[in-house]
Amino acid sequence: MKRRQFIKNTCLACAGGGLAAALLSGCKGTRYVSSALVAGRLTLAKSAFAYLKKEEVRYSSWVVVKAPQVPFPIGVFRAGADQFFASYLECTHQGCEVQPQGDYLQCPCHGSEFNKQGKVQQGPAGADLKTFPVETDTENIYIVLK
Ligand code: FES
Repeated sequence: MKRRQFIKNTCLACAGGGLAAALLSGCKGTRYVSSALVAGRLTLAKSAFAYLKKEEVRYSSWVVVKAPQVPFPIGVFRAGADQFFASYLECTHQGCEVQPQGDYLQCPCHGSEFNKQGKVQQGPAGADLKTFPVETDTENIYIVLK
């Protein structure tokens, strides 16, 4: 994909999805996006994972979605062009906010670790993160909270 086409697609995807992408931060690592809860779903444009590096489209592993109606953010991991995992970022140990680190999640409070699918890998947390089904179409990802 050429740079001009990428920019055009990205802008159209954001506008069409009704996504407030104003909170995108930086071009690498974890990106932060706000969304609104509508009919039990949060909408995230697939283009939120994309960034340009040396005229090439690259993809972040994580996008963290924040919504005013949801107390903790939701981490969405991009496993492939059409494969995503969504985990609620409230640690199951004592409720701190876990953070994406590469391809896993880590709790800054006591060091628990969870894989990209929210399964606990290291305690003290004894339970997996809450996860959500993810649906997709050509442009968007829908996190189903119901
Ligand atoms: S609150 Fe996360 S490890 Fe303790």
